Amino acid sequence: MRQFIRRRAKDHGLEDGEAFQAQLVATEAVTNAMRHGSGGGTRMPISVTCVWRDNGLTIEVGDRGRFQHRDPVEPPSDATGGRGLGLIERLTRRFELETSDSGTKLRMLVGADAA
Ligand SMILES: Nc1ncnc2c1ncn2[C@@H]1O[C@H](COP(=O)(O)OP(=O)(O)OP(=O)(O)O)[C@@H](O)[C@H]1O
Ligand SMILES: [Mg+2]
Repeated sequence: MRQFIRRRAKDHGLEDGEAFQAQLVATEAVTNAMRHGSGGGTRMPISVTCVWRDNGLTIEVGDRGRFQHRDPVEPPSDATGGRGLGLIERLTRRFELETSDSGTKLRMLVGADAA
């Protein structure tokens, strides 16, 4: 999956740093899908797609599980977990979380700003 994301990022002309960020946020999202979504016990598929639009790479990670909201959103400073979504937020131009009964989809836009 990381190689797939990196290849797509480089094919579309993203810099090495941006390609690395794309790999990192995709890794966090897929790890979440495996750990918290449907990827773990139920063996339902996880999907990863990559589309070039808005001058950036839109990466979508989908699973068939149910999103569980946790409070607080910001983890305590000494917590070792609860960092993934915050990382994704900081390393993407845009990110959207879609949750429904049929699953969770995280859409992330990485790449240079069109401006
Ligand atoms: N695909 C998903 N399906 C269901 N719940 C999710 C999913 N992704 C995230 N969550 C929920 O959001 C919380 C925060 O996710 P986040 O990635 O920030 O932290 P984490 O996975 O618990 O820890 P870390 O990523 O730092 O190892 C998770 O603990 C989980 O409750
Ligand atoms: Mg996580």
